[in-house]
This record gives sequence, structure tokens and C-alpha cells, in this order.
Amino acid sequence: MSKFIPKDKYFHRAKRNGYRARSAYKLKEIQEKLKLIRKGDKILDLGCAPGSFLQVLSEIVGAEGVVIGIDILPIVRLPQKNVVAIQGDIREIDIEELHILYAPGGFDVITCDISPNLSGIREVDNRNVGELFVAVENVVEKTLKVGGHLILKAFFSDDFKIIKSKLANLFRTVSTFKPVASRSASSEIYLVAVEKT
Ligand SMILES: C[S@@+](CC[C@H](N)C(=O)[O-])C[C@H]1O[C@@H](n2cnc3c(N)ncnc32)[C@H](O)[C@@H]1O
Repeated sequence: MSKFIPKDKYFHRAKRNGYRARSAYKLKEIQEKLKLIRKGDKILDLGCAPGSFLQVLSEIVGAEGVVIGIDILPIVRLPQKNVVAIQGDIREIDIEELHILYAPGGFDVITCDISPNLSGIREVDNRNVGELFVAVENVVEKTLKVGGHLILKAFFSDDFKIIKSKLANLFRTVSTFKPVASRSASSEIYLVAVEKT
């Protein structure tokens, strides 16, 4: 049986302020602290449904910027003109086409808030996390510009250290960030990789 999680202040705050999910506040915290995303940036958001990251990103990049979101699930259309949401699996999507169409010079920042479906079976979950990371790595290598940044939700899986060290080979610095808005009981943690080399 799944554990009951009460709706907390971030859930209510998101509802009041028109954000589609409480995750909006996790991204806001990362941005307030690190200021990696700038006005006019081209951003790719992996695992974007229901769309609260897209809403926050849209506000930050403004009219000159563009935000492309991908999710396996359908995304209810957002009114923001600088947002394009595409339904697709990041392990299968034609990333070259997306790249050429929306960011021929490369994306400035990639955010990835994907949550794999966790089964509770350790080997299965480790394999899923591993597979998703390979897909993210491929997208980062092909579409993130040199000097661009990655904000990636990770879980404390067996592969956490391996994922962190693989990113350390691709970026100038990699650090961890646990937003206050992230439930303390959750094993999620964000890896912030700065300046692709
Ligand atoms: C926590 S939600 C993202 C919330 C989002 N950042 C927001 O602020 O609204 C995680 C998402 O990852 C998506 N996802 C899981 N596996 C995926 C895959 N292989 N490709 C694309 N999206 C995936 C799920 O469908 C789910 O919508």
C-alpha cells in the first residue's frame, strides 16, 4: 500500500499562484541560488508534464527566449507563446530534428525532472534509472551547447556516484542541491552541472 502524503504548503502555494505542480518551487529555489538561466535563453525541459517547470522557465527567459518540453504524457496546452511542449519518450525521440528546429546553436540549459516509475525491486529500478541516464547523456552531448548547464533530478540509487562522475567528465563543475521544497522523505536530489566542456 502506498504511503499517505499530506498536501503541504508548496502544493497550496502552487495552486494559489497558478502553477501546475509544486515542483515549480524547486526550480525557483535552484534559480534564485545559482542564477544559471538567463533572459533570452533556449531551454530544453525533459519530463515536463504537467508543466510547472515550463511555466517558471517561460517567465525567466521572457519573450526572446524559448522553452521546449518533452514528456511521455500528453501536456495540456500552455498559453505562453515561448513554450512548445512535445509528447514523446526521451529514449526514442528524434533529438537531432528537435535540435535543428529549435536550437541550431545548442540549448543554453537543459532541465530534467524525469521520475522513472519505481517498482521497489532494486535491480529493476537501477536498470530503469541507468537507461534514462544514458538517454539524458545522449541528449546533453548532442544538443547542449558548449558552456551550457544541466539541472538533473537524480535519486540516491546505486548508480548515483557513477552518474555524478560521468557528468564531472562532461562539465566544469557538478554539485548537488536539495531544495527546501523537495519533501525531506524523498530520495530525490538535483545534480547541477555547470559549463559543458
Ligand atoms: C515529476 S514529473 C515532472 C514534473 C514537471 N517538472 C513539472 O514541473 O510539472 C516527471 C515526469 O517524467 C515523465 N517521464 C518519465 N519517463 C519519461 C521518459 N522516458 N521520457 C519522457 N518523459 C518521461 C513522466 O511522464 C512525468 O510527467
